[in-house]
Amino acid sequence: MDRKVVVVTGASSGIGESIAAKFKNEGFLVVGVSRSEPEVEVDLWSKADLTNKEERESVFKDVAEKFGRCDVLVNNAGVGLYDTWENIDEEALRREFELNFFAVVDMTKLFLPFLKETKGTVINTSSVAAKIYVPCMGSYCATKSAVYMFSHSLRAEVKKYGVGVLNLIVGRINTGFSSRSFGGLNPPSSPGGGCPKKLADKVFKAYKKRKRQITYPFWYEFVAPVVKLLGPVYDNINIKKWGI
Ligand SMILES: NC(=O)c1ccc[n+]([C@@H]2O[C@H](COP(=O)([O-])OP(=O)(O)OC[C@H]3O[C@@H](n4cnc5c(N)ncnc54)[C@H](OP(=O)(O)O)[C@@H]3O)[C@@H](O)[C@H]2O)c1
Repeated sequence: MDRKVVVVTGASSGIGESIAAKFKNEGFLVVGVSRSEPEVEVDLWSKADLTNKEERESVFKDVAEKFGRCDVLVNNAGVGLYDTWENIDEEALRREFELNFFAVVDMTKLFLPFLKETKGTVINTSSVAAKIYVPCMGSYCATKSAVYMFSHSLRAEVKKYGVGVLNLIVGRINTGFSSRSFGGLNPPSSPGGGCPKKLADKVFKAYKKRKRQITYPFWYEFVAPVVKLLGPVYDNINIKKWGI
């Protein structure tokens, strides 16, 4: 089989949906992974709750049976949790880590044999939250920091196989992500936000150029140094914003 295969987790919505559509347009066979059926055209929907290890393994089996290869794995499915460390529910915290981090590691390990054969690429959706802390979103920041560290350390480890790793530093994107997040607090509304389709175009370009990391929207590159400069002022802004 000549056509390349991309596996996209979280293909039923937002960023994952746009990435799936982009790769499909570029001629890839697309496997969408999610709990609800993707509306975007895919060649295989592997229904899975990625917090469940057996269901992650069944995704690999589905892909092995139908295509027997994987060229790109996009670890994108994720969820937010808004609460203070004082009040955070332990089960919710573990569930957030299970999806945002442990599923990313596990899916990569499952698909690595295929990726080694194709000299493929792992694309991980980290976040600007890996670079700046946000009060009341500390657990989310921690999961995305873990993904950031996973991406960069993994890259060096799999270089010998010709496997690439692209880490995505994603700023606010208009997907309704916050409305689907859980926890005891509602996030304050913030204006603006990037376009998931533009992000998907940039991801594809970066994949073709075998880039190590991209930031979208690009100006988030400057947020971390500004936060560092602001110091306690940044804390006070957030204390007011979240009403804590
Ligand atoms: N939007 C932003 O501002 C932003 C910023 C930085 C980083 N990110 C990251 O980008 C990624 C995608 O976010 P998005 O904005 O596109 O969010 P979204 O629109 O809410 O999409 C989340 C996707 O994850 C899937 N998903 C959620 N729980 C799942 C589970 N237990 N098992 C399998 N799939 C599951 C959802 O599908 P089902 O519900 O059908 O399962 C959906 O397809 C996330 O990792 C997020 O942390 C987003």
